[in-house]
Amino acid sequence: MVEPVADPPDDRHRPIVHFTARQHWINDPNGPIILDGRAHLYFQHNPNGSDWGDISWGHAVSDDLLNWDELPVAIPAAPDHMIFSGSTAITDDGVVAAFYTGHRPDADPRRVRQDQRVAISRDGGLTFRPFATNPVIDLDLVDFRDPNVFRHDPTGRWVMVVSLPDRHQLVVFGSVDLVSWEECSRFGPVGATGGIWECPALFEVPVLDHDGRAVGRRWVLKVDHNPGHVSGGSGGQYFIGDFDGSAFVPEHPTDAPLWVDRGADFYGALPFAGESSTAERTWIAWMSNWDYAHDTPTAPWRGAMTLPRRIALVEREGRHVLVQRPSDTVDRAAPVVGGADLVADGATLEVPDAYRLRLVAVGADLSIRLGFGPAEVVVSYDRHAATLTVDRSRSGERPNDRFTGVHTASLSTPVVRDVDRDVDLDIVVDRSSVEVFADRGSVVFTELCFPPPGPRTITVSSHDRPRPSASRIRLDSLVR
Ligand code: FRU
Repeated sequence: MVEPVADPPDDRHRPIVHFTARQHWINDPNGPIILDGRAHLYFQHNPNGSDWGDISWGHAVSDDLLNWDELPVAIPAAPDHMIFSGSTAITDDGVVAAFYTGHRPDADPRRVRQDQRVAISRDGGLTFRPFATNPVIDLDLVDFRDPNVFRHDPTGRWVMVVSLPDRHQLVVFGSVDLVSWEECSRFGPVGATGGIWECPALFEVPVLDHDGRAVGRRWVLKVDHNPGHVSGGSGGQYFIGDFDGSAFVPEHPTDAPLWVDRGADFYGALPFAGESSTAERTWIAWMSNWDYAHDTPTAPWRGAMTLPRRIALVEREGRHVLVQRPSDTVDRAAPVVGGADLVADGATLEVPDAYRLRLVAVGADLSIRLGFGPAEVVVSYDRHAATLTVDRSRSGERPNDRFTGVHTASLSTPVVRDVDRDVDLDIVVDRSSVEVFADRGSVVFTELCFPPPGPRTITVSSHDRPRPSASRIRLDSLVR
């Protein structure tokens, strides 16, 4: 176990139900995997400081995806290369293989090189030994990173998807032995091509019907980009389609991007390997944005992960859409606290530091003020415009000028708007974050905030007819 570090007197932004390293910098999740029922989360980590640098794979384990024990660094930076993002896979004989980008810095940016490497663990993912013959793929490129590796069962081959960030292109490689790789196809440039492309993930998920039953399966290809996200700075887009083991073919036009998350703080998401591919998958992301990640006012840690989320597809208005909801273990950690009626009456209710609020807007506009002392994050649903807005512009300290305040998303297309329909909201609030899962998880906002001290409160109000019915509000206190 990593030695605990004494909390400084004011560590008030440290989340209660989200992962942070005990100290120092983190960014992307790497190689999340379930091994023998236990979740392993590796992550981009500077073990020596609170800024990006000396990048290694940190490591934490959890039995419930909420309580994480941080373990010693799994793959430390080497003298001549850092350990950039990647993924893990488990072989039939129980070996855990970690695939990552070797980043070889150089004073001359044109001479930086990135290549793909493998390290092997024979003790269940605790310690790794890099292959003597690394790198396994070297195209002599400055920008070539973030391998996503998985086994494609129908062909029995291993697949690796790697990004060519400045070309807005992904390269798909195939292998039978995890060591020699051949290029099979390329994807892109398509969709959002502002900034650079990073952290691809290709995986199969079920298509669920209205009752949550699996009625089909599709492949999702997610790729992050920085900057150019709809809510500013870095974020993710996704494509839905088919994958035959060699090439991904989208089933929809790829000109208008499909955004993974409409908030500002969801990056580098990866699904846990080791979960059955016939059920919903779980993924987790870095809860920050490259526009201000270096300036967030937290210490001795910097950077947090989102809640783990269950992901699947549903059909909406004739097309497939990605849906996300908090992992089931968040439910288990949530004893109900009273006060739902008060909330329904538009009064202000005091709540714990970490809580989950679920409610349904019953054919009515709704404004939910999440109070943090004098500061606030406001979530509002406008039924005529069919939009949901999250406003964090009065949420406390702004890390820098690029910390955007107001984010809005449409819940329906103009053609199928129904001003009277019920819209469900599932909101998870922690000390320095708000995650909103709306309309059965088809629209999600992940937002950081750095509020001042003071009582945490909720005020739900409706500007037009029927007040939200108390029976349709549920408030849970979140504990670990
Ligand atoms: C994305 C990223 C990756 C890279 C890693 C370096 O957040 O830039 O492309 O591997 O961070 O820490």
